[in-house]
This record gives sequence, C-alpha cells and structure tokens, in this order.
Amino acid sequence: MPWTQNLSVGVAMIDDQHKMWFEKAEKLFEAGRNKQSKEYIGEMLAFLDSYTKKHFADEEKYMLSIRYPGYEDQKKAHTAFIGELEKLRNDYNTSGGSLLVILNANQMVIDWLTKHISNMDSKIGQFTRDMR
Ligand SMILES: [Fe+2]
Repeated sequence: MPWTQNLSVGVAMIDDQHKMWFEKAEKLFEAGRNKQSKEYIGEMLAFLDSYTKKHFADEEKYMLSIRYPGYEDQKKAHTAFIGELEKLRNDYNTSGGSLLVILNANQMVIDWLTKHISNMDSKIGQFTRDMR
C-alpha cells in the first residue's frame, strides 16, 4: 500500500518522511512475498526500525518547535509503536524468518502508521495552518 495524497499532513518534512517510510515498508513486503533471504529481510526490518525512530524523533522536535499541545500523546504513541516494532523483529528472528510473520508484521505496521497519520499527525498539520 503506497502513500497517497489523502495522507498528506501538510508539513513538507513530515510528508516526505512518511512517503519514504511507505516506500520502505512496500519493499519489505515485496521482499517477503518474493521469499528473499532471511538476512536481507532482517536488514530491511532493522532499517525500518531505525528509520522509524529517526522519523519520530524529527516529528517530536518539530512539535516542540511549534509548542504543539498534543506532544505528550504523540510521544506516548510513538514509544508504544517502537515497542511493537521491536517485538516484531524478535518474532521474525525467533521464527527463523517465517514469511507469515513478515507479512502479518507488514500489515500491522502499515495499518498502524496509516491510522496514526490520519488521526494524530494530521492535527499537527492543522495546528501549523492555524498558526499562520
Ligand atoms: Fe506521529
């Protein structure tokens, strides 16, 4: 599932990172479907994990810079999701690289991010527009 315009928050930095995030998730999904090596998929999962952390950190910095009132709730959601991602990586590693694990994992992370963007990140964009 690709990034689509209706997921735009309206803050270029955040949108660009979301797009990149979806691209990476898509690649991971493809790699799982094409039954690529456990090592390769493991690397991609590690990348997704570190990219997610970087993205959340940048988003949090941005929220602080505009004194966004929903910062704490966002931070909590981000921390919880990072925990989920770590669990998935563990599941993947202990499953010996199961395709099912990777496909479920992918669905879970894409669903989560899509909901998070629509429900929470979109409000950062709204707040930014209201400031102008
Ligand atoms: Fe967020």
